[in-house]
Amino acid sequence: MLKDIIAPSILSADFSKLGQEVKDVEKAGADWIHVDVMDGHFVPNITIGPAVIRSIRPVTKLALDVHLMIKNPEKYIESFAKAGSDIITFHSEIEDDPKEVIRLIKYYNKKAGISIKPGTGIGPIEKILPMLDMVLVMTVEPGFAGQDFISDALPKIESLRRIFKKDIEVDGGINAETSRDCRKSGANVFVAGSFVFGSKDYSAAIKSLRGGV
Ligand code: DX5
Ligand code: ZN
Repeated sequence: MLKDIIAPSILSADFSKLGQEVKDVEKAGADWIHVDVMDGHFVPNITIGPAVIRSIRPVTKLALDVHLMIKNPEKYIESFAKAGSDIITFHSEIEDDPKEVIRLIKYYNKKAGISIKPGTGIGPIEKILPMLDMVLVMTVEPGFAGQDFISDALPKIESLRRIFKKDIEVDGGINAETSRDCRKSGANVFVAGSFVFGSKDYSAAIKSLRGGV
């Protein structure tokens, strides 16, 4: 059975004390740290880049799960890899050739993930599934934290689980309830931004994402 993985998204952390926030979620039981990179082109928002990844790398032992919401990932894989990413996920809805992007991520010995937006089916990624370590099924339109979960993603997760045996990650509107629905459908990696960082007790929030276990 695949391991349950909880990955708080630092997009909802207090950036004025980012290092401490990362340490706090690690102590509270997080498995990975999810880092949302947005370029203002692929999505209508701008967030953080390799410099921030480089500065949080030494403060935690946890894997850095980097979610690239950028138009031309191929150009930036080297700098995200060298900054200290462990898992690099890019979107299927890009201009670059996904196979080339995956090859580049593997060249730097990083795990490769591909993400699909709510409107994208499994069809476009089916052929490249054997090359991937993870598929990220977006459960909101990428761009902003704090949006409502889109439940249309659930049957998509179920179909994907039938043909993909590695990590399936969900991201967007994840809380105790929606994580349970996603787990039932076959997801095993749960990204949560506002649910974790917006709570007073990070440890309780992370526990409830594991189904209270
Ligand atoms: C959305 C990002 C998410 C976001 C999740 O584009 O990819 O990781 O930060 O935030 P919540 O959990 O608040 O929906
Ligand atoms: Zn994300």
